[in-house]
Amino acid sequence: MDGLMRRRLLAGEVHVWCSEPSELERNGLVASAQALLSSDEHERMRRFRFEGDRLTFLATRVLVRQVLSRYEPIAPRDWTFVATSHGRPEIARPSSALRFNVSNTSGLVVLAVTHRLTVGVDVESLSRPAPIEVADRFFAPAEARVLQSLPPSERTRCFFEFWTLKESYSKARGLGLAIPLDRFWFTLEPCRRPRLEIDPLLSDEAEAWHFAQLRPTTEHVIAVCVRRSGETDGDITLGWHRFG
Ligand SMILES: CC(C)(COP(=O)(O)OP(=O)(O)OC[C@H]1O[C@@H](n2cnc3c(N)ncnc32)[C@H](O)[C@@H]1OP(=O)(O)O)[C@@H](O)C(=O)NCCC(=O)NCCS
Repeated sequence: MDGLMRRRLLAGEVHVWCSEPSELERNGLVASAQALLSSDEHERMRRFRFEGDRLTFLATRVLVRQVLSRYEPIAPRDWTFVATSHGRPEIARPSSALRFNVSNTSGLVVLAVTHRLTVGVDVESLSRPAPIEVADRFFAPAEARVLQSLPPSERTRCFFEFWTLKESYSKARGLGLAIPLDRFWFTLEPCRRPRLEIDPLLSDEAEAWHFAQLRPTTEHVIAVCVRRSGETDGDITLGWHRFG
């Protein structure tokens, strides 16, 4: 699984990489993928009850290790990671300017990589019905009102667009679901970037962040949130990392 094409990240860029976990099995790569994991990762993988979750976890680790090694002359096996107090994994060693965040859903694992920029990513599958009641309970009132006003056929897509944007922001801030989801909200308009508004209670400025929505397949939606870097405005590109 080595010999991958080298890549370069410019300041302000975000490279988003997608992979299909099932490819590891299809291409007979499960054993060689496991050989890339640290002992901690092996331990975490063993704790999953379902085979599908184990494969997704494995695919996520391999995606992170192999893609980071496209940008730095480090072997995939040699990266070590540390989790923040809120659970966000970051590179521990070797020291690197690369920053990343990962997300997974049914059939897809996604990684966003930047050079020094704080980034959050979230992916969801549109193949299951949206839990609309979650919006009524946890989203900001403005978002819940938009969802209620839509015909049922459009609600699932809109719910997951809001959800992925909200998670991408909370993951970029490194807080995960510790952030109150009703204290920030998005406005979606055709052909325009999603617009964020934040309650002063969260002590943050909406202008500090840049968002993009991507559709890697007809079934999946991705949102990316990256901290603005001054002169650049987040050039966000999507690519596929094949396990093969
Ligand atoms: C982060 C969180 C929102 C993920 O939600 P999800 O939709 O289930 O999962 P996703 O697939 O989108 O993302 C999972 C990935 O996000 C990353 N992640 C975990 N915690 C994160 C955080 N606080 N901020 C940013 N990213 C985080 C991890 O890489 C994780 O994948 P991995 O465990 O395979 O490495 C949720 O797990 C959460 O809120 N975690 C925080 C829990 C916490 O506060 N723990 C305190 C320590 S006990």
